[in-house]
Order: sequence, then structure tokens, then C-alpha cells
Amino acid sequence: MRKRVLSGIRATGRLHLGNYLGAVKGMIELQNNPSYQCLYMVADAHTITTPYDPKQLSDNRKEIIIDYLASGLDPQKSILFIQSQIPEHFELTYYFSSIVTIARMQHLPTYKEKVKQYPQNNTMALLNYPILMAADILVYKANLVPVGADQEPHLEVAREIGRKMNQLFKTDFPEPIRFATKGEYIPSLKGEGKMSKSVEGSYINLTDSFDEIRKKIRSIPTATTAGGPLIGGLKTLFILGQIFLSSTDYQNFKNQYNQGNLQFSQMKDTLAQVIYEELKSFQERRKEIEKNEDYVNEVIKEGAIRAREIASQTLKEVKEKMGF
Ligand code: TRP
Repeated sequence: MRKRVLSGIRATGRLHLGNYLGAVKGMIELQNNPSYQCLYMVADAHTITTPYDPKQLSDNRKEIIIDYLASGLDPQKSILFIQSQIPEHFELTYYFSSIVTIARMQHLPTYKEKVKQYPQNNTMALLNYPILMAADILVYKANLVPVGADQEPHLEVAREIGRKMNQLFKTDFPEPIRFATKGEYIPSLKGEGKMSKSVEGSYINLTDSFDEIRKKIRSIPTATTAGGPLIGGLKTLFILGQIFLSSTDYQNFKNQYNQGNLQFSQMKDTLAQVIYEELKSFQERRKEIEKNEDYVNEVIKEGAIRAREIASQTLKEVKEKMGF
């Protein structure tokens, strides 16, 4: 049997370069490997665990599907769907919640961070976030999950839940593991933390024009003199360089840096040019897909049907074994 892959991105906004490099590239790699059956969703239900705007949520759901398609995810090869259209995720979350303690959820670093960020929003949905994510994965009995390293604590919860379910109720959930991609940690343009939708000025949008990209790359804080350890903005610049520049260009800039004669503006503008080249084809494909609304709706509808076929099987099994 083929191994199953599941991943999702929260519908908090359009995809940016960090999601693209960190998550979507890994998704595409797995999709093109015939040993895997891939399911990729828009995690719209996870979006309401932090304050949100309903109109924006409604738009973003479809926008992310379009981003997926333009990035190269292919509905002939992968099942692309919207999380909230598969009610089995929620039903399984409830059953799973009966074997997870409140204390376990309260101690997760992701939970603590969000409570700090939104003290007025310490909700049950936020506390349940990891259980819903476990249900997302286990309802398809997925083996591999392409996500960033920051999601490792959530995957640990999913493995614990699967194990405990298997022990208590003789289910056969696998132990899902994280599939790491090369560009999984894309640092912020501000030189601190990671590229994130929630930090203004930290990211490059996939739809940015050449001028916007150049302006953003030029804004990465770098010293006026070269040499010394690669920290802060310098680290961001060189990590992006490593991902996007040819190895010759990268090595040249690196040597110049070490010798203390690197012209930062030259490296930045070269980098901006290469990033734009990569995004240009994405932008062209996206324009084509945007025009074809019927096609996008059809992809979403088909995806839900196919995802539900698998999910309902698991639910049937779990309910029986749990005594319903
Ligand atoms: N928590 C993930 C993130 O913030 C998004 C997500 C929700 C997810 N459900 C998932 C990722 C299931 C992988 C599998 O990136």
C-alpha cells in the first residue's frame, strides 16, 4: 500500500515565500513520488483559534487553493481540499479529546505563545488546536507530514494520541513523522525570528513585483562593513542566498564577505532578481487559474468527495471500537 501524506496551511492570509519554501516545495516533492498518496488541505478551521475576520477567512480559503494550484500541486495527483468541508475531522477531534488531559495541552509551547500574544482569546478552540491537528492527520492514517520544525510538538501529540487509541481501542493508527524540507526555516527579513504573516515587514509575498521584492531585500538590516559572524539580517541574507543563488555566485559573495569587501547592495539586488525570476512563473500560472473560477470550484468539490471517502472509513471504525 502507498504511504499517505497529509499537510495543511492555516488560512490566515495568502501564501508567502516562507510557506512556499518551507511547506509547499516539500508537498510538491512528495506528490511527484508515486510511492505516496498525498492529501493537502487549507486548515480553515484552525484559523478561528486566533482572532480573525469572517470575510477574510472566506476569501483566503479559495485563494490558498489557487496558490496551491499555481505552485504546482496537481489535483490529478493529490487530493486538495478544505478542512471544514470534512466534518469527520471535528467528530474525531471530540473522540480524541476524551483521552487527552487538559494539562498536556496547556504545556505546549505553541499554546503558551498564542495566549501571550492574545490574552483575551484563551479559548477552548485554542486549547484544542493540537487535537484537531491530530485528527486531521490520523483521520487519513497519514504516515508523513511535510511541515516546518515548529510543528514538531504538535506531531508528538498526534503520535501520542494514535498510540493511546491503539492501546485502548485496538485501532491501527500509524505514527506520523515530519517530512523536513531544505528551506524549512526561512528567517525574517527583519533579521529576527522567522518569516511570518503576522509580522509586518518580515516576508515576501508570492505576488510581489520585482520592485517590491528589491525594496524588501534592500531593507534587510546588514552592517556597512563586511566580515564577522553571520547573525541577524546577515544570516537572513546568506540563508536566502544559499537557497536562491547559484553556488558560484553564493561562494563569491561569501568570499567577498570574509575578505571584508562585499558590496551588500550588489548581493541584495542579485538576490532580488533571482527570487523574482522564480516567482514570475508562479505569478503567470496564478493569473491563468484565477480566471477560471469554475475549474477552482470543481477542484475543491472533487477534493472534498475524495477526502471524505477515506475519512468516513476511519470514523466508522473508531466509533465501533469506542462503543458507539
Ligand atoms: N498547524 C499547522 C501550521 O500552523 C497547520 C496545520 C493544521 C497542519 N492541521 C495540519 C499541518 C495537519 C499539517 C497537518 O503550520
